Amino acid sequence: MAQASSSSPSFGCTSRSFATNSHDILNTHRHSPKNNWETPFDFTPENYERVAEVLAKFPTNYKQSACIPLLDLAQQQNDGWLSLNAMNRVAEIIEVPPIRVYEVATFYTMFNRSPIGKYHIMVCGTTPCMLCGSRSISSAIKDHLKIDYGQTTSDGLFTLGEMECMGSCVNAPMIAVADYTGGAQSFSYNYYEDLTPADAVKILEDLKGGKKPKVGSQYRDFAMPAGQVQGGKWTAASNKAGLTLAFEASGGKVPGPYCRNLDEPAEGGESKSAPPPPPPPPPPSKEGAKAKA
Ligand code: FES
Repeated sequence: MAQASSSSPSFGCTSRSFATNSHDILNTHRHSPKNNWETPFDFTPENYERVAEVLAKFPTNYKQSACIPLLDLAQQQNDGWLSLNAMNRVAEIIEVPPIRVYEVATFYTMFNRSPIGKYHIMVCGTTPCMLCGSRSISSAIKDHLKIDYGQTTSDGLFTLGEMECMGSCVNAPMIAVADYTGGAQSFSYNYYEDLTPADAVKILEDLKGGKKPKVGSQYRDFAMPAGQVQGGKWTAASNKAGLTLAFEASGGKVPGPYCRNLDEPAEGGESKSAPPPPPPPPPPSKEGAKAKA
């Protein structure tokens, strides 16, 4: 079984682990054999074309606006983390002091400041996911990989982190996986939703085996069919459990259309769209105002 390795100091405490593997412990840089002034970084010719595309989106006197997309590109090229010189190169390109780039890279949890695994597994731990079983998801992943939050498997394949809400609460619980196996050219950041613990483990095994697990909800393609993960398994809602009337009437198919055109007359009536308001009256001329006075 894979043994855990961690680049994060524990400081002898067992407090809650945070999202990623370095910057959330201490936002400081310490030279290491893999990350120091001598560690080389420069964008590849292929990625310099992407750099040019990113810069072209901003006025030439606002190059600093490209900071986040360029850090993201650097991270994708650099196996999922930002070395000191990766940040310095971005600072040179956008013509700002390096500290301005360090501030950004150490603030956002999607930037990693030390080496991570090929797959960065992020478990959502915020309330809706927690209520739907995210703790059983994280336990299953920890047990399977034999690592804790902030740690990387010894084969260098998986790093585990916890994230706050990733905006997919309707399909809770969920995880996100950043895939750094192919650099910037094949990078992906996918959500896997409506997870049972068994689903989470299968996703890990599929990734390890070079397969592409199903992205998104594991049980539905739209907001329907209704159901949820309960007690560690997916439970589809029965009619008695509260399917909507429209869904029931459609015989289990996703009904549509979802919205009608509000500019068209409602069935059996006139358009409910309000006519445009009349233009405001012109302001009185100075002569007119004087005459009134
Ligand atoms: S709480 Fe998990 S995605 Fe929102």
